[in-house]
Amino acid sequence: MLFVIVGAGLAGAKAAEGLREAGFDGRILLIGEEVERPYERPPLSKGYLLGSEPREKAYVHDAEWYPSNDVELKLGVRASDLDPAAHTVLLDGHAPVRYDKLLLATGSRPRLLQVPGADLAGVRYLRTLPDADALVKAVPGAGQVVVIGAGWIGLETAAAARTHGADVTVVEQDSAPLRRVLGDEVAQVFAGLHRARGVDFRFGVGVREFRGSGGRLGSVVLTDGTELPADVAVVGIGIQPATELAVTAGLAVDNGIAVDAGLRTSDPDIYACGDVASVEHPVIGRRIRVEHWSNALNGGKAAALALLGRPLTYDRVPYFFTDQYDLGMEYAGFVPAGGYDSVVFRGDPEGGEFVAFWLSGGRVLAGMNVNVWDVQDQIQALVRAGYAGKAVDVARLADPAVPLGDLAD
Ligand SMILES: Cc1cc2nc3c(=O)[nH]c(=O)nc-3n(C[C@H](O)[C@H](O)[C@H](O)COP(=O)(O)OP(=O)(O)OC[C@H]3O[C@@H](n4cnc5c(N)ncnc54)[C@H](O)[C@@H]3O)c2cc1C
Ligand SMILES: NC(=O)c1ccc[n+]([C@@H]2O[C@H](COP(=O)([O-])OP(=O)(O)OC[C@H]3O[C@@H](n4cnc5c(N)ncnc54)[C@H](O)[C@@H]3O)[C@@H](O)[C@H]2O)c1
Repeated sequence: MLFVIVGAGLAGAKAAEGLREAGFDGRILLIGEEVERPYERPPLSKGYLLGSEPREKAYVHDAEWYPSNDVELKLGVRASDLDPAAHTVLLDGHAPVRYDKLLLATGSRPRLLQVPGADLAGVRYLRTLPDADALVKAVPGAGQVVVIGAGWIGLETAAAARTHGADVTVVEQDSAPLRRVLGDEVAQVFAGLHRARGVDFRFGVGVREFRGSGGRLGSVVLTDGTELPADVAVVGIGIQPATELAVTAGLAVDNGIAVDAGLRTSDPDIYACGDVASVEHPVIGRRIRVEHWSNALNGGKAAALALLGRPLTYDRVPYFFTDQYDLGMEYAGFVPAGGYDSVVFRGDPEGGEFVAFWLSGGRVLAGMNVNVWDVQDQIQALVRAGYAGKAVDVARLADPAVPLGDLAD
């Protein structure tokens, strides 16, 4: 019996681990396009970039784990085609592989900013360990860093660059940072956090071109004509799920590889998880694709059970976290675009310690704890209750004296 996992990121590695933990004694082949063994990406924009965590800490397993667990790791190899009828995966430069079950954990890739000068040295993305290695070299000595995109990559990189002492300008086409996910009210918390540290935001503009001389970046020209001097530009304008194999194989794709709540694709022997999977979510009641660490971790483990034919409903409440300067936060839930009608704060956002809730018709759709800890179980219970149609008492929700645990009952 051979289970093939395409994509040796966190989701793929956790699926391999989950298979062995569940007692699977057949062959596991884990195929990765990158030359690094599986690693976690969150440290790349935080501890590793800040210089506070060693590079090695990012790896999911130590190198010996793979042979010790009889996981065949093929690195630096791209799976280039998939034939579900023949149960075969084509690998660049290798013989085709015939699988019994296949897991697609191909993750996502950065959207590219295609403007003149995009190939100048100094224009950077941040997705892979080599990307991070380059920034670890470039950012600490940089005088001026321009960040394009005020999403998660942009803000975490801005925080690291400011902490290293660079002048930082963040260019965002929208009117506030993280607005698509957090809405206007909470976006202002992040704008304030960065402004208080001296970050300069330029909203409502994009990049017209990167300029430089001798092949090196010298400035970033914005769509309004402003020219910003730059030693380094970091582009974080979102990702695209790596669905190519699924598309060529004729699997259903809908903003990612479409899977049911058991992580099964439209082919009964092929599963998908992590960033690339668009899951029919039983709690949220619609198809969603979650681009965050905990979904790769838990989705990988869940996919292992799915591959083994165990009954599975992947119903984790979407969750993510960030760390920027002295702000640490966790977020749980899901708010469709324009899908909330009020934000309730428990605690004072100005004071830096609070929980924010997004509501629709009195139902909690999502909650975010900022520098307040050990409340995730209660927040997730409120989100489950909200999506089940239960409204909450808003005055009590806003009152820090009322235990959150009392509200979800
Ligand atoms: C810098 C950075 C910081 C982050 N910080 C956080 C954070 O603080 N909190 C949080 O919740 N999330 C964070 N994330 C998001 C999180 O890292 C991702 O959600 C997670 O990496 C997804 O894991 P994955 O295994 O599904 O996909 P990926 O990590 O994208 O891994 C997929 C792997 O598959 C490989 N692959 C793709 N196609 C093929 C193919 N055809 N053949 C072979 N291999 C292939 C890719 O090369 C890649 O190595 C961060 C992301 C980045 C980039
Ligand atoms: N803490 C975390 O959870 C975390 C941290 C880092 C990265 N990530 C993940 O990594 C992936 C990439 O992150 P990201 O920040 O690139 O994506 P993102 O989707 O979070 O943010 C992209 C931002 O770029 C802006 N933008 C898009 N095109 C632009 C343009 N041409 N000019 C200026 N602004 C533009 C968007 O409006 C948006 O604000 C995402 O999946 C994200 O979830 C997560």
